[in-house]
This record gives sequence, structure tokens and C-alpha cells, in this order.
Amino acid sequence: MATREAYVQVKDLKKHYGDGDARLTVLDGIDTSINRGEICVMLGPSGSGKSTFLNLIGGLEDADGGSIMVDGCDLTVLKPTDLGEYRRRELGFVFQFYNLVPDLTIKENIEVTAHLSKNPLNVDDLLRSLGLYEHRNKFPRQVSGGQQQRCAIGRALVKNPGLLLCDEPTG
Ligand SMILES: Nc1ncnc2c1ncn2[C@@H]1O[C@H](COP(=O)(O)OP(=O)(O)OP(=O)(O)O)[C@@H](O)[C@H]1O
Ligand SMILES: [Mg+2]
Repeated sequence: MATREAYVQVKDLKKHYGDGDARLTVLDGIDTSINRGEICVMLGPSGSGKSTFLNLIGGLEDADGGSIMVDGCDLTVLKPTDLGEYRRRELGFVFQFYNLVPDLTIKENIEVTAHLSKNPLNVDDLLRSLGLYEHRNKFPRQVSGGQQQRCAIGRALVKNPGLLLCDEPTG
């Protein structure tokens, strides 16, 4: 495999919602690339399509056109089962609205994704770095918004993922 290629390569990416009068073009031919080890920040007003873009790169929504290559693999042609495998293997995703599992403790929310990874980080070390160790046995509703947010970040980080997508993690 060519190692000089960007880790993420997006070409002419298109996405709309709705049809007819309600049709809204959100992404109209986006081109970008991100190298391995690179930190990339996306800025834009509310409603400009940031979450939509991340959902496409994260394999959570389908594109209308264009291609999304991640580590040499085109997500736009993958079957649903292969997309699931891509998300498990490659991806950490911090959602804009946390999406913690309410019936699991803070620690269990992080452990769930640690189990999906071949080389996870140590859960207790991570809980300490995030200032969540003393809250580890509480449920999400019993901790503050910022603590829930850090749990969501921990859940994405613990996989030690190739690609970490963060939707307003400090919003
Ligand atoms: N499932 C959907 N169906 C229809 N329209 C949608 C859907 N999801 C998003 N939109 C619309 O697409 C546009 C882009 O939304 P998106 O959530 O990507 O914006 P954003 O840049 O993440 O905004 P914010 O900063 O508020 O999170 C918005 O106008 C939104 O109303
Ligand atoms: Mg958003």
C-alpha cells in the first residue's frame, strides 16, 4: 500500500437532505485530506454541515456522491457489515450529544469500547487522566455535563483508534 497517501482523502463529497422544495444541499463537492498524525479542526456556523461531514467520515450516514478514502479503503462502496467493521476497527467518535449508555456506569461506558479494540488503553489510567476515577461507579445522570462529556471522550480514546472524530468535544 502507498504510505505517502493521506490517511483520509475526501473527493467531491456531496450530501443533501430532503427533496423538492424542502431539498437542502449541505455538502456540495468537498475536497480535503488529512495525514496520519495530523490534527485538523473544522470551523463553521451552526447548521453549516460540520456534524454531517463527520457522520459521513464516520460511516454513520451515506454520501450522495464523491469518495471518502480512509487508509486506502473507500467507505462509499463498503457494504453495511464492512462499514460496521471499519467503525469498530478504525474509529473513535465523540458525539455532539455524548450518547452515553444510561444504564452503564461511567467506567462501564468506557469499558464497552475498550473491548472492541485490539490495543486498548488502560481504563483506570484513562479514568484518572480524565478526572473521572472517583466517579467511575456512578451512572451518567449522576454526574455533571462536563463529566459526561469527558466520559464520551474517554470512550472514544480508550480504543486507541486510528482516526478520532470529535464533534464539538468542548462545546
Ligand atoms: N437528518 C436530517 N434531515 C434533514 N436535515 C438535516 C438533517 N441533519 C441535518 N440537517 C440539516 O443540515 C444542515 C447541516 O446540519 P449539521 O448538523 O451538519 O450542522 P452543524 O454544522 O453540525 O451545526 P451545529 O454547529 O449547530 O452542530 C442543517 O441545516 C440541518 O438543519
Ligand atoms: Mg453539529
